[in-house]
Amino acid sequence: MEVLPDKSTLREWLASRGSVPRVLVPTMGALHRGHTSLFDRARTEAKSLGGGDVVATIFVNPTQFGPNEDFDAYPRPLEADLARCREHGVDAVFAPSASEMYAGDRSITVTENRLSTSLCGASRPGHFDGVCTVVAKLFLLTRPDVAVFGEKDYQQLAVIRRMVRDLDFPIRIVGAATVREPDGLALSSRNVYLTPEQRAQAPLLQKALAETARGIGEGRLVSPGEARDFFLAEFAAATLARLDYFEIVEASTLEPLVSFDQGVPRLITAAFFGKTRLIDNLGVGDR
Ligand code: PAJ
Repeated sequence: MEVLPDKSTLREWLASRGSVPRVLVPTMGALHRGHTSLFDRARTEAKSLGGGDVVATIFVNPTQFGPNEDFDAYPRPLEADLARCREHGVDAVFAPSASEMYAGDRSITVTENRLSTSLCGASRPGHFDGVCTVVAKLFLLTRPDVAVFGEKDYQQLAVIRRMVRDLDFPIRIVGAATVREPDGLALSSRNVYLTPEQRAQAPLLQKALAETARGIGEGRLVSPGEARDFFLAEFAAATLARLDYFEIVEASTLEPLVSFDQGVPRLITAAFFGKTRLIDNLGVGDR
């Protein structure tokens, strides 16, 4: 596995690979089974291209963190991350420094103006500008044929699909299912911040989503409004949590659904346990 710390080593490696197809998995490191499932999915995609390289990026992107967020505290266990990449057969890891990625006087930002404004975008102003800008740069630097993102960050996936469509990136975006703990909690690098008491209640987020999705699927919850009330009542059991948002949106436009016959529903939520913000989402047919 090649470890590429800057753009020039990346460029040399890409040149050495000639026309071999490439599948990209962008990450911020602190890798867990959610990330490694993306590496495995990327390998499957690479095989379907007739054999290709899997490239991971590890970069804690400063521009997507708000001023009061956890950029400085974000875990950066690079050696352990590289070992996980190796174990999962990643061919090359691009792990640049912040100064390698951003000029001090940088003045261009990629902004998505519709899907980014609600949900996490409303709670985290500027977050998706940072995501779009860095992902556009990573796409241009690594020039993949396919890029794999997790459904765990559902709004991010939808925003990136929109960016690829609207800016004509010649890249196929693959969304991969959320990997969970046995009790249902979605794996996240931020779960380590939870106290034991918060950790014990955190699975209620997924449980309330799953119960609500089941109620919709079985026809007991007949309108988004009714489903919302049901979710709120279920999640009230998480006494240590403060709900940030819960919405039932159309799966690709992220517009709030007014009725279930308007499109494919996606249940999407975020909640604070203390200072730790957890997100999760579910489709109605998902388990
Ligand atoms: P990060 O939070 O490190 O996540 C990297 C990728 O792993 C994302 O596509 C995310 O959706 C996926 N992922 C995280 N937890 C997962 C889980 N439990 N199951 C499945 N996939 C999971 O998302 C980012 O980094 C950044 O915003 C990035 C796209 C790298 C841009 O900086």
